[in-house]
Amino acid sequence: MISPKLQKIWYGGDYNPDQWSEEIWDEDMRLMQLAHVDAVSVPVFSWTHLQPREDQYCFDWLDRVLDKLAAAGVYTCLATSTAAQPAWMSRRFADVLRTDITGVQRKHGGRTNFCPNSPNYRHYSRELASRLAQRYANHPTLVAWHIANEYGSHCYCERCAKAFRDWLKVRYGSLDALNAAWNMAFWSHTLTAWEEIDTPTLNGERNNMPYLLDYERFQTESVLACYRNEYDAIKQYTPEVLITTNLMGHFKPLNYYAWAPYLDVISWDSYPTPNQAPSEVAFTHELMRGLRDGQPFMLLEQTPSQVNWMPRNQLRRPGVMRLLSYQAVAHGADTVMFFQFRRARGGPEKMHGSIVDHAGHEHTRVFREVQALGAELQQLGDALVDGRQQASVALLFDWENWWAIDLSVGPSVDLDYIASCKAYYAAFWQANIPVDVVRPDADLSSYQMVVAPMLYMLRPGVAANLSEFVARGGTLVVGSFSGIVDEHDLATQDGYPGELRPVLGIWVEEHDPLLEGQQVPVRSEPWGRLTGNYQASVMCDLLHLEGAQGRAWYDGEFYAGMPAITENAWGKGRALYVAAEMDARLLSDLLLTLCDQHDIAPCLAAPAGVEVTQRSKEGVQVTMLLNHGKQEAVVPLDAEYRDLLSGEPVQGNLKLAPCDVRILQRL
Ligand code: GLA
Ligand code: ZN
Repeated sequence: MISPKLQKIWYGGDYNPDQWSEEIWDEDMRLMQLAHVDAVSVPVFSWTHLQPREDQYCFDWLDRVLDKLAAAGVYTCLATSTAAQPAWMSRRFADVLRTDITGVQRKHGGRTNFCPNSPNYRHYSRELASRLAQRYANHPTLVAWHIANEYGSHCYCERCAKAFRDWLKVRYGSLDALNAAWNMAFWSHTLTAWEEIDTPTLNGERNNMPYLLDYERFQTESVLACYRNEYDAIKQYTPEVLITTNLMGHFKPLNYYAWAPYLDVISWDSYPTPNQAPSEVAFTHELMRGLRDGQPFMLLEQTPSQVNWMPRNQLRRPGVMRLLSYQAVAHGADTVMFFQFRRARGGPEKMHGSIVDHAGHEHTRVFREVQALGAELQQLGDALVDGRQQASVALLFDWENWWAIDLSVGPSVDLDYIASCKAYYAAFWQANIPVDVVRPDADLSSYQMVVAPMLYMLRPGVAANLSEFVARGGTLVVGSFSGIVDEHDLATQDGYPGELRPVLGIWVEEHDPLLEGQQVPVRSEPWGRLTGNYQASVMCDLLHLEGAQGRAWYDGEFYAGMPAITENAWGKGRALYVAAEMDARLLSDLLLTLCDQHDIAPCLAAPAGVEVTQRSKEGVQVTMLLNHGKQEAVVPLDAEYRDLLSGEPVQGNLKLAPCDVRILQRL
């Protein structure tokens, strides 16, 4: 439970009262109550209003806002406002503004425009967080803390360069060790003094992968240190109140696995594009839920209607906001929150959808939809809150692996780690088989099947973790281009897939990147659902069997007849290798065959486009059905249920209109 004060799915969003006159605040309270809003993030971007000068803090306006919220029955996820520093701070302290990859220090403006290693940014952000925590520790509205906002920008300044050198000294101990780890003999890059190490820049070192990888790690830690700096200050005053910052799904610049231990609850901002496959949205929810071992997370932002930062910001069609809100809940969200409550009058976000539009009243389509969902969430009470998913399948995801694949010069620009993860995930999603997305060194003992797409980088212990999982009886599926490098991006000298070679029983000798649009036919003899002809794309791994057996074979190119899918018995389990990016039908036929063999069944058999998930707590299971299709769908129920929204019992054939959602509890 995020807070015992609010034992339901929190409903609300970002509220920016300091952009409005005080007369509007009372109207906002009325509108919040009307929309059933009970939680707001405030004040997210108000640093200058809270600290107009270096030596002056100003909280009285926030006191009044919070008191009005309390009177209206609205709780606050209290934000620290430190994502956009005041102009006076940028001007006064030379260390505050960050330097971008061109090596040029930025001017004031925008947001997340600070150097994470700036002592003055660290000092003043901590000071503000600390004063807020001290002042509002016992405020009745306080239910959670929201530090800064969407951390992300990296810095390449002199101060960061120095901090990077210090970080490297700790990591490697000596220059010799660093030269070896970075393979600096290449192109005569051997370092002879620590001072020779600079930050990456556009006109400097851009090709040394181990070095660039370490810079990403270093910046992840630097930015995290800013968050932890505020976190520690707040904890002193409110040890019981959960603290978070809003993450952004598979956001590349920050390794969220390093962050997760310091977020008491995961929260994230979900902004799918209008045509994004629902399985992709679901994948990102799983990734966020997996950051803290499946604990419920917060959907901290989404748009009620449209965003403003895409080339064409199409409106969410009627019903889509409700559908996507429930999809988040179906995958573990315990809050449904929006950006933002009242649409900004000016600035870059004036065209961003909000609960209250520029017209300023409740008589809009969007307000009515928000209000209707608010009423439903009130009715649901705590039925889903704190409910957990149960999955027999885990899919491995690793930020450092992603960085390394994208940094690697060659073998193919078409290698797309995220796309590969989503393709494997989609095969399970379409069959409504629950999947957890976990880190490669996660405890795998509760799973029967583990899928590792494109595990190019094997960090220490990962191969052992996977091999032990197989030895204990699990089924491991490893995707192409795996087991190539170690944590420093140094290629294995033991033949690909390196440390996974024994468990997979294969040796990959070569990689053949396909030309644009090229496919290579793959054929399979009947094995479960797998049969007939399929297509490989992107890149084909050319391999030899070393104990494994073939399950499908290339049927074209000079490697026709070479295995394209292999299976190797190992201990009590088996490990399969999928040697290329395969078409969706192959992935589905293969993975569902393996599920059949493990008796891993869908939550509920449903027609295509209907998503089914389950969350349970205290022995009570709630099943959610979501129709992402454009047609009415009929779902044959396997038992009698109670519809938690209508209160009616339901059984037999359940009809779901397009975009409709049902929340069912077994009777
Ligand atoms: C992000 C930010 C918000 C807002 C929205 C707009 O998620 O956190 O402040 O800018 O984007 O989509
Ligand atoms: Zn810097």
